[in-house]
Amino acid sequence: MISLFLCTLSLIAKIAPNTHIIGQNIIYFNQIDSTNSFAQELIKDRMVENGTIIFAEEQIRGKGQRLKSWISEPKKNLTFSIILTNNNNKINNPFILNKLIAVTILEILRKYMPNNDIEIKWPNDLMVNRKKISGILIENNFIGHLLNFSIIGIGININQENTLVNATSFYKLLKIEQNRAHIFKYFIEKLDINYRYLLTDGATFFENQFNQNLLGLGILNLFKVNDNLIEAKILGCDNNGSIIIETKNGIQKFQHGTIQQIINE
Ligand code: BTN
Repeated sequence: MISLFLCTLSLIAKIAPNTHIIGQNIIYFNQIDSTNSFAQELIKDRMVENGTIIFAEEQIRGKGQRLKSWISEPKKNLTFSIILTNNNNKINNPFILNKLIAVTILEILRKYMPNNDIEIKWPNDLMVNRKKISGILIENNFIGHLLNFSIIGIGININQENTLVNATSFYKLLKIEQNRAHIFKYFIEKLDINYRYLLTDGATFFENQFNQNLLGLGILNLFKVNDNLIEAKILGCDNNGSIIIETKNGIQKFQHGTIQQIINE
């Protein structure tokens, strides 16, 4: 009975990443409301090991950016949250975590699909050939001004065949079903290396990699601001996560939610 259960358990439930911090503890669910919400409950209820991952094959109420939902076909993709505590107060500027995660996913995508255009759409989307393949939702908790812990929610489209027109997946790009456990393990191991580098002296590296890989960097883009369309060049993203653009009226900064980049394929 037990062996039958083990045989039918997803390969993802059995992965044992070779890491120091990230993914030493992985909690696996077949179905849950949202891995980010579960992470919040875990933190409320008891001490959680730094680097704990909550993985779900299906989310009933997956959360996206700006109160949108994250819809992902069950058992086809990767939907998970990572809990990072900031117990040495090494992270002063939480947006560096968005940069770390985006750059790590970018590295994974470039390894799997080197012949494609892989970019970061400010502030949190990973794009392949201008279509979204992955989204990040980071929820931070502070004590006073100090970051206490972060819940890093990640959705990556892997084997989903049907996506929205402006989205894509590994399967759609590579035309072959992917081993999700391999990709997941590879991501966790890469993130563990990158996170430890960030905690030593890697912040500038992740700042630069993030900025250099922004979709539309240095070229004229169309943006929507308060229902008006403007043309501007992207210059980068500052420490707080605001986008810096050059308009005909000079250099301006915008926070997430106050400007929308219009993407043409
Ligand atoms: C976005 O692009 O809007 C962010 C999407 C983040 C989705 C992930 S899936 C795992 C984690 N749990 C959630 O409820 N949301 C994040």
